[in-house]
Parts: sequence; structure tokens; C-alpha cells
Amino acid sequence: MGYYKIKNLEEYFKHYKKSIREPRKFWGKIAEENFIWYQAWDKVVDFNMGEADVKWFVNAKVNITKNCIDRHLAKRGDKTAIIFEPNNPDEKALHISYNELYSRVAKMANVLREQGIKKGDRVCIYLPMIPELAVAILACARIGAIHSVIFAGFSASAVTSRINDCECKMVITSDGGFRGNKSIDLKGIIDEALEKCPTVEKVLVAKRTNTTVNMEEGRDYWLQPLLDAAIPNNVAEIMDAEDPLFILYTSGSTGKPKGMLHTTAGYMVQTAYTFKNIFNHEENDVFWCTADIGWITGHSYILYGPLLNGATTIIFEGIPSYPDFGRFWEVIDKHKVTQFYTAPTAIRSLAKESDEWVDKYDLSTLKVIGSVGEPINEEAWHWYNDHVGKKKCPIVDTWWQTETGSIMISPVPFVTPTKPTYATLPLPGIQPVLMDELRNEIEGNQVVGSLCIKFPWPSMARTIWGDHQRYKDTYFSAFPGKYFTGDGALRDEVGYYRITGRVDDVVIVSGHNLGTAPIEDAINEHPAVAESAIVGFPHDIKGNALYGFIILKEIGEYRDRDNLTKEINEHVSSHIGPIAKLDKIQFVSGLPKTRSGKIMRRILRKIAEGDFSNFGDTSTLLNPEIVDEIKDERI
Ligand code: WT7
Repeated sequence: MGYYKIKNLEEYFKHYKKSIREPRKFWGKIAEENFIWYQAWDKVVDFNMGEADVKWFVNAKVNITKNCIDRHLAKRGDKTAIIFEPNNPDEKALHISYNELYSRVAKMANVLREQGIKKGDRVCIYLPMIPELAVAILACARIGAIHSVIFAGFSASAVTSRINDCECKMVITSDGGFRGNKSIDLKGIIDEALEKCPTVEKVLVAKRTNTTVNMEEGRDYWLQPLLDAAIPNNVAEIMDAEDPLFILYTSGSTGKPKGMLHTTAGYMVQTAYTFKNIFNHEENDVFWCTADIGWITGHSYILYGPLLNGATTIIFEGIPSYPDFGRFWEVIDKHKVTQFYTAPTAIRSLAKESDEWVDKYDLSTLKVIGSVGEPINEEAWHWYNDHVGKKKCPIVDTWWQTETGSIMISPVPFVTPTKPTYATLPLPGIQPVLMDELRNEIEGNQVVGSLCIKFPWPSMARTIWGDHQRYKDTYFSAFPGKYFTGDGALRDEVGYYRITGRVDDVVIVSGHNLGTAPIEDAINEHPAVAESAIVGFPHDIKGNALYGFIILKEIGEYRDRDNLTKEINEHVSSHIGPIAKLDKIQFVSGLPKTRSGKIMRRILRKIAEGDFSNFGDTSTLLNPEIVDEIKDERI
């Protein structure tokens, strides 16, 4: 019997034990039985964690797109691979079958080859959420070019630094992109970015907004005529298991962005396996992950994971609030979505609106709903469970990172009993450990510590592009021999994990370790509060004190800010303890957030400290303008 699908809790424990005792047999069997290979491996895994050197499926030969597309054609050629749901609900959705996806990718792959792209070349993809984005990614993988997708919301300077870091030879972009009622001048941003990118030789431009753009002679080419002239067949490049598949830059809450490098076979095996189990995928399902493909969530769970399983996956161009706050729920209703995967920040922003938006749509096709990106607070978890899942869909709170490539800790729906705010148990093959300050592994349950992984897993990043030393220093040196996630976690009495947040989000107040996440949870429960962020700032007596940045739901009823400040502190005091009371509370209209929804605490810390000298790289912020507002109104 294979290990690909976990059917019940007993089987989960059986698979888990097998995966720890005999990881080679476990992953070897999954790899052998569920994918097509040109050549098998000599060794399942070869590693030296101290040196951060890891190889999976050593010497195997494979092409991930043969597994994503070609092998489905006989059985599922006419099945919809991708549903494209445009930004404007009045524009018709597009259904792309596996057959059509094959010819689109083949044509694009041929265009790339004709334009001089070879195996190993880096191609920057800067596209909105349109089918060409998926096709461009898969075409790179088809010919062995390394894709570096940059989220089409990053500024020109962020694009420049990413293109230069990995020396891209080509950029694939579009004239523009739609987002809500805005249209974004992507080609203009690329033109500006490329002023300082000497390695880029060609730019292929897809049409989306039909706006007039500047086309530089000899450098810029419209994509469509090239595709029209290309033949719809392509022989895939034979790739080594460890050949690079893509580079993806992490939002980097500190320092310059890190180009995480993922390789071919291990990434393929684990994204497929996790997609199958965590979303309980069945043949006729319609899967929707609301992330942008520009993030790892989109790479692994809009594209690779679903396509490897022959699934139908949605590419949604729009935003949750356009044309109104019912948009997500309307899309679920319209396409009869069976699995829905989104982020706590989206859940909270929609929970803030009237429940009528969600209650008026038919969400009865949903089977599993998921969350990713940050700890999901209790209030949001319950709202999601009650209003979206209607208390019948297990919530998969999935913990993972850009660096891990695929989901690591999560309930398996209908298998693992869920518990609000808990990511619960590691997937088979994943060995999490909690470490104390003395670098010892903490045994037993009901403990807290720094979350590490002590055995390699197939989809882990292999290095930081061009800087293996930084990779080693960042992830493998704090706890020698182990991968350090940077997150803190708690293990409850039955061994369930709850991710408490980044370890550096802990503030020591009067000698007490205070995680800022639980304080924020408590504050968010106050009826007037929409969202909050707490940071520490130096205090003469306590060492550190707490500073709260708070967004209110509406101001009307709570006009008296002093009173509200008092109330919030009473709330914190009764939920966590008087020690967690905030010294300063500033009401703000927004918080500085990265595109993946994470609050950039480094900036808030500086503001709280009164140090406005250098906020570092703010190019990854969604709303850079908020920084000045918060700074000017500091108390
Ligand atoms: C960090 C990774 C990989 C998905 C998108 C974010 C936090 C992620 C959870 C979760 C608590 C979570 C962690 C992690 N995080 N998922 N379910 N519960 N925290 O990828 O930008 O690489 O961020 O996001 O802090 O380290 P990323």
C-alpha cells in the first residue's frame, strides 16, 4: 500500500512513524508511485545539515511540467486545469483545459527558446494574475530556465534589486494589470526598473489593459504575435533532480531580500503530496487559493501542487473588496469551489464587514477551508468556521514558509481533529523540535520554545541564490545541525503545535517574557478594535514597555479616546495580566504591511523608540505612506 493519501488518524500515525524511522523508504515510495521520471535516483537523500547541504532523489532525471501536464492528457485532456476569474465580475471567466494548457505552455516554451533562453538562465516574470503568468512559469520549467517571479505590486527599485541579484536575462511582463478599480502601469515600472539592469536582453510583453506603452526597439517584443507563430508541441528538457526550478525572494523583515532557491524533484514530490492530503483533493474538486502567484503560496498551491494532482485550480485576478465585500463568496458560489485557502488578514478584513455579504451566497460546495501566513487568532478562526465553513468544513491552519517550499504542520482534514489557533501536527516526513535558550531540545508536552526542524524534507530551499554562507548563517547556525524557522511555538498536552509568532516578536517587560501575539489577540477581542500591533520600547524601570498601534472599527461610538485607552488596558489586564498593560496606545488608520500581510514590526519598533533616522528597506510595503502618518502622530 502506498503512502500518498492518509485516510484516517490511525494511518496518519502509521505513516508518520514510518517516515521517521525510514524516511528514505517513505519518500522513495511516494516518489516512485506518483510521478513519471526519465531515470530513477541512486539515493533518496544525501545531506549534511551542518553545512546546509541537502540533496533529494540524487541523480534522478525528471521534468516537473511532464508531471503537471503531459501525463494527465490521456485521462484528463478535456478537464479544466485552470479557471481564470477576471478582476471585473462582468468579464467572462476562462476555462483552460489540460489539452489547452499543454499547447499554450509548449508555444511559450518554444518562444523562450527562440528568444535565446537556455537551461539555467534566469527569467524574471512580472505579471498580474492572468493565465500568461501560469503559462510563463510552466514554460520556464519546461525548458529548464529558472523562473524568478516578482509580485506585480513591487516598486521599480524592488524589481531592480531582484533582477540584478540573480542576473536575469529576460523579463516577461504585461502592458498593465487590473486590481479593483485601479489599473497598474506594469510596463512603466519595468521600464524604470530596467534602467539599472544590465543583464536583461529582452522583454516580452503580454496584453491585458490595452494601454499604450513604450516599446524599446530591439529589447521589447509583444508576446502574442510570437506565440501565434510558435508550434504547439515541445520536447521537455531533461532535468536533474537537483537542478534549480525557481528563485523566490522572501519579503525579508530584516536586511536585503533573500533569493530562496528551490530545486526540481523534492519540491515536486512534497508540494504534490501535501496538496493531496491537506486539501483532501478528489477528482471533481474546484480548488481556490486566493494568494498571488508571486508568493510561495501561489507557486505551490495555485500552480504546482494542484496541477501535479490533475486538479482544477482558480487564478483570481481581483481583490476581496471589489466590486464589494461579497466578491470572494460570490466566486465560491459561481465556480462551486470545494476548497478555499486564504490568509488571516483577509479573513479579519472581511469579518469586519457585515455578515450579510457572506451569508447571502451559497457556499455549500465547500469541504475544506484553509489559512496561511500568520497565526490565526481565535476570533477570526471562529468567524471563518461559522460563516464560511458553516461549522462543517475542517479549517486547515497550515504552517510553513517560503523556505520550506510546502506545508509542514497542519491538520489533515477529516483525519486530525482541529483546535482553534493550532496548526496541530507535523505532516509525515516532518520532524519539528522545540529548543530552549541553551540550545537543548525540549522533550515532552506542554512546553514552549524555538521551532526547528531536525531532519531534511524534500521541498526545502537549497540555498540563498549567490550566498550559501548567508543561508547557513540564517537558518543552520542558531541551533547547529538543525534548521531554525525563526518562529516560536508551543506544544500542548497532546503534542499539537501552536505557532506563536516570530521569536523576535517577544518583548521582555520587567523580566517577563511577553509574546506580542497573545496581547494583540486580547486587544482584538475588544468590540471597538479592528486590528492591533504591539511592540516593545525601552523603559527606564521595566527594561521594556509595550506600545500599541491600534486600528478602530469605527470611531463614532467611542469618541472618547482616553476612555477607550483605559478600557483596552483593562481588557488586556483581565485577559493576560496587568504586566501586559500597554504604556502607550496610538490609534492609527493602518499598519505598515508587507504584501503577504505581515506587519513590518521593525518600523513600528523604531517609531515606538522615537528613532526616525533609518527605517531600512521599505520597498516591500503594501502601504508605505502609512509610515509617515504613524510617525507624525506618535505619542
Ligand atoms: C512565516 C513565513 C508560507 C506561506 C506564506 C508566508 C508565518 C505562516 C503560519 C501559520 C502561524 C504562520 C510564520 C512563518 N506563518 N503560516 N499557519 N500560523 N504563523 O510565507 O512570507 O515565507 O512567511 O509566516 O511566522 O515563519 P513567508
